[in-house]
Amino acid sequence: MTPQRCAALADKVMSADDAAAFIMPGEHVGMSGFTGAGHPKAVPGALVRRMAEAKHRDKPFTVSVWTGASTAPDLDGALAAVDGIDLRMPYQSDPLTRAKINAGLLDYLDVHLSHVAQMVWEGFFGDLDVAVIEVAGITPDGLLIPSSSVGNNKTWIDQAERVILEVNSWQPAELEGMHDIYYGTALPPNRKPIPLLRAGDRIGEAYLRCPPEKIIAVVPTHAPDRNTSVKQPDVASKLIAEHVVDFLAHEVKVGRLPDTLLPLQSGVGNIANAVLTGLDAGPFGALTAYTEVIQDGMLQLLRSGTVCVASATAFSLSDSGMAELRANIAGYRDRIVLRPQEISNHPELIRRLGCLAMNGMIEADIYGNVNSTHIMGTSMQNGIGGSGDFARNAYISMFLTPSTAKNGAISCIVPMASHVDHTEHDVQVIVTEQGLADLRGLAPRRRAKKIIEHCAHPDYRPALQDYFDRAMASPCGKQTPHLLGEAFAWHTRYLQDGSMRHR
Ligand code: COA
Repeated sequence: MTPQRCAALADKVMSADDAAAFIMPGEHVGMSGFTGAGHPKAVPGALVRRMAEAKHRDKPFTVSVWTGASTAPDLDGALAAVDGIDLRMPYQSDPLTRAKINAGLLDYLDVHLSHVAQMVWEGFFGDLDVAVIEVAGITPDGLLIPSSSVGNNKTWIDQAERVILEVNSWQPAELEGMHDIYYGTALPPNRKPIPLLRAGDRIGEAYLRCPPEKIIAVVPTHAPDRNTSVKQPDVASKLIAEHVVDFLAHEVKVGRLPDTLLPLQSGVGNIANAVLTGLDAGPFGALTAYTEVIQDGMLQLLRSGTVCVASATAFSLSDSGMAELRANIAGYRDRIVLRPQEISNHPELIRRLGCLAMNGMIEADIYGNVNSTHIMGTSMQNGIGGSGDFARNAYISMFLTPSTAKNGAISCIVPMASHVDHTEHDVQVIVTEQGLADLRGLAPRRRAKKIIEHCAHPDYRPALQDYFDRAMASPCGKQTPHLLGEAFAWHTRYLQDGSMRHR
């Protein structure tokens, strides 16, 4: 196996253990990886072994881990298991890391994904010591062929003092040419318009650049990405998908959307995937996507031709999705563009293209404030990811959830959201299996009426209506009526009794 084609780097080829020895205790480490795709597969494990030994000798150490988004059990999970993470940012979804975050054992910075690069350039997190970046290959003249995600790799390579490359021969060689790395971003006052007018435009280069003198190690690997398994759509997700498709068809009918809609953005999770499946069965064609990840549902839309071109920063595929991509990669190659996340999630571009944003949520309140991140207001589930980038700037911003969670013990429509990631100003449409509330043009009291009637589960609807009616009858302000002493009673009841139901 030839790890890379660049003779100039041949003397840098070494084992993961030797490469990991270059990472010093306390350093800031920028890792590649986005939603389980393109993370380094070998160096993190070697670092974990060093950490475990150091812990055994009563000399534990940690590093700060910066990524694109979530990685995999062999990166986030393994580092968390040895208490090796001091600070983690941005989005993550690993169960063990989540447990450590919620136990207060590491700092977690949940940053909008489009903001990460510029915050690093501005120096908020300190200097980046080492970048550990997976690539699919290195060209003879030293250009880096990105792998299955781009994420923040451009920024990590630019900012890091030292760069360790993992060259993963498991990644399909045909990825070469699929990427579009734009090198034109800058901080104000030197910002220029980003010249992207259509979802499929290519405005940059197919390769990442790295000065050879920065590269301290090249580690050959042959290991798969994380398998992002997807559940078959259940009854609730199918209904949610139907409501979304009907709504979009209505928007076309009344002339607010063209027949080909506008570029789709679809978030993470099973509901988002189910909506994509629903769109494939819907009346639309010649669609485009300007989104964050290509998940199984998006691949299916590309395969069927319902979507002509999809732009993202990463794949997030199940094993069968990956097998499909590999088997037919020639047919996908020119129709998929992978970009840095500062471009895939850029507010300027999302606003210009008029994306139709569809993201999952944990809960919404009766006025349409949305919680995407915190369980019962205090425990982190995953993170805000790109949901804020898209929701704030989309042409239509939709949030989707089943109306209840935990077998009906939790209502996902509550009097007051226990944490707010997306305010009522950024939330235009809420969808549950019960129905769809189009909140555009509605003042708060009318929003409440619509959300309670259309989205709440019938088991919880009367109690929500009762809360709203009593708030209206109370001496509180009537712009956004609330009973402040009772606003979180549903959450506290769940924490005490295991159910939000009124007895
Ligand atoms: N209160 C408490 N717990 C709730 C809840 C609520 N209102 N709603 C859901 N949950 C629990 C579920 O029971 C489940 O718990 P479990 O892991 O113990 O089984 C967990 O939260 C996840 O719910 P699930 O229905 O499996 O979620 P999902 O796969 O549809 O994902 C989000 C939903 C909100 C977690 C996910 O979309 C997310 O992380 N969003 C934020 C980032 C984002 O939107 N990124 C895309 C931008 S491009």
